Amino acid sequence: MISEQPNTSSRRKFVRTITGGVIFAALPISGCKFLSAGVPDSAIAAWSPDDNIDNTSDPRVRALSWAILAPNPHNRQPWLIELQGEHDVVVRIDSQRLLIHTDPFSRQILIGTGAMLGLMDIAAKQFGFNTETIWFEEGRFDRNSIDSKPVARVRFTRSNEKPNNDLFSYITRRRTVRSNYDINSPPSKILESALLSLDTNTINNRIIVKQPHIHLFDSVKRIAKEAWKIELTTPETYLENAQLLRVGSMEIAKHRDGISITSPLLVAFERFGLFDRDRFPPLESNIIKTQLKAFNETIDATPSFFVMTSFDNTRITQLMAGKTYVRAHLMATKYGFVMHPISQALQEFPEMSQLYSDIKQILISETFSSESTVQMLCRIGKPANGQAFPKPSPRRGLEAYYV
Ligand SMILES: Cc1cc2nc3c(=O)[nH]c(=O)nc-3n(C[C@H](O)[C@H](O)[C@H](O)COP(=O)(O)O)c2cc1C
Repeated sequence: MISEQPNTSSRRKFVRTITGGVIFAALPISGCKFLSAGVPDSAIAAWSPDDNIDNTSDPRVRALSWAILAPNPHNRQPWLIELQGEHDVVVRIDSQRLLIHTDPFSRQILIGTGAMLGLMDIAAKQFGFNTETIWFEEGRFDRNSIDSKPVARVRFTRSNEKPNNDLFSYITRRRTVRSNYDINSPPSKILESALLSLDTNTINNRIIVKQPHIHLFDSVKRIAKEAWKIELTTPETYLENAQLLRVGSMEIAKHRDGISITSPLLVAFERFGLFDRDRFPPLESNIIKTQLKAFNETIDATPSFFVMTSFDNTRITQLMAGKTYVRAHLMATKYGFVMHPISQALQEFPEMSQLYSDIKQILISETFSSESTVQMLCRIGKPANGQAFPKPSPRRGLEAYYV
């Protein structure tokens, strides 16, 4: 049983008086809307941008309808978008959609916004436009907080160049894949060199495979596992994550954000009050033990890690890290590989500080500055045999981001 303390809701009290087995056996789970688990089509309609926006639309709207498919932390989709005049898109951060515990300085939120802007550039090019970006035209927000000032003004101008833009066609095929990978399939040489070619003066990409980096590879695995344990057993970060789970079809359709839970068993547990997302579970509870075990197995089923570090950690660098990350993820998709960010050790809440400094120490070269930062740490590989390719993750749809 997942939930062990009494709960106030009458539905939950009712369930608790009966053993879970009896209820689940008695219920016609399939066909019952209340218990349906899959991702509904309405939640992923944004993944067919051509069906939603025709090619005579404003090119900014067309490009944006592809841009919102960007990877972003916890699928918060923290963007506010304004079309200004005939050529400009102004992007701000939605302060209601931050991750105040797991991402206290909103570094990951900025990476997700950079990824969205990166896809906007790629899509604009595809539709015959160049983009020019003015960053923080009303001033940068500081290192510790986010405000309502614009992050970027993106100006669209007609281009005479023919699009040479092969990453565009992978935008709708990209997924974050959290399943087990084949440990014998690290990135091919061609993918590795494509990823390294994304390096800039500030951003450095790297692949870590077991051979020849055996000690480094094992250290990354160890830190990743310990970091997940800390995130899961710190009440604030556990609860922030739990409250962003969208359990079953009804919740997924309603919110179209967060992390979708589609396991019929978990949906049933939740519906009958046995998985209470408002309560921090005891360390020895099944919910914690099961999640630790599953994550550790996933980390063990990893042939290689993709690491993105930066020389400094300015707000613009964080946005550029996002632009680079989404290109890297599209390249992996192009060459038949999948990726899964594992950000726990990169998170800046106090309980994580030791592992945060450990991961920095092993992944950042000595020539870097004290501001140097590990911006992304990801698993990269091919899904193991028999692992299903996931459905796209929900998006709220363009209308939801307009101010
Ligand atoms: C900065 C950043 C950090 C992320 N960290 C994690 C993570 O720690 N664990 C995870 O499973 N996914 C992580 N993701 C992936 C997001 O959860 C994912 O992009 C989002 O749910 C949307 O799904 P999609 O990428 O399949 O479109 C991260 C993505 C970004 C951009």
